[in-house]
Amino acid sequence: MIYNEILKKGVNFLKKNKIENPYLDTELILSKITNKKREEILLNTNNKLKNKDITKFNKYLFRRYEKEPMAYILGYKYFWKHKFLTNKSVLIPRPDTEIVIEETLKYLPKENSKKILDVGTGSGCIVVSILKERPKCNATAIDISKNAINVAKTNAKLHQLENKINFINIDIDKYKSYNYDLIISNPPYINCIDLNRLDDDIKLHEPMLALSGGFDGFRDLKKVIIKSKKLLKINGKLILEIGHRQKNQCLKILYANGYYINQVSKDLSGKDRCIVSTKLQ
Ligand SMILES: C[S@@+](CC[C@H](N)C(=O)[O-])C[C@H]1O[C@@H](n2cnc3c(N)ncnc32)[C@H](O)[C@@H]1O
Repeated sequence: MIYNEILKKGVNFLKKNKIENPYLDTELILSKITNKKREEILLNTNNKLKNKDITKFNKYLFRRYEKEPMAYILGYKYFWKHKFLTNKSVLIPRPDTEIVIEETLKYLPKENSKKILDVGTGSGCIVVSILKERPKCNATAIDISKNAINVAKTNAKLHQLENKINFINIDIDKYKSYNYDLIISNPPYINCIDLNRLDDDIKLHEPMLALSGGFDGFRDLKKVIIKSKKLLKINGKLILEIGHRQKNQCLKILYANGYYINQVSKDLSGKDRCIVSTKLQ
């Protein structure tokens, strides 16, 4: 079978099963199997595929048919300026989270060396992206999931940051290390009703531990806000990613815990997504 034939077969199969982006996904799967760039595939559509590669192609295509996200099938996702390895133990890095990086960098002058904590690091995409931009800083990244910590460690190594980030598999509730200049967190924040409404791609494949913020979606946001009061230095910053309907309630919790609000920022779709606050005393 030649590339052109298998591409047509793949696109038709995904289209028939109402999978979004059938052309792109089929081309990316073929590109993974042949270890060739997408452009190379499209310029060589008469190339022949080996039988063992046809079997592999069919397996990957079936995973996509089962709504597995492309980031898990391919094993990576681009975030900010870098490539991050991804598997089912970690949330797939989202473009919406890039606002957290943008805002954090504003509070980290290039020449300063600050002590940073990333709570719920997942793939490590936030902490790695920040340390790549601010190499004088040092960071600790924690996650309750051991498998996620392993992925984050691999990503730190991939970006030559294994000596700059200390990864710890621990629940934020049990963490006791103080004097941070800045804490960043994208905690699980989806409530139980919205959880049921998520697309199958997310609901069936991404880790529940990374999605569910308890009954009202605020369980982990509250935990991080309250615990950060202890972990931050006076005047330290807490930078949170929030769900787009959680701004008012989060501001309330932050005020009630004595934080000053520096800024609320919107994501790429114009939704409230990031709160920067300061621990006052
Ligand atoms: C929404 S994901 C964010 C992952 C990554 N930071 C990102 O932005 O793509 C939340 C992460 O928090 C972790 N987590 C959930 N509860 C936690 C807890 N109590 N303590 C530490 N980490 C926790 C999950 O395992 C998950 O990796």
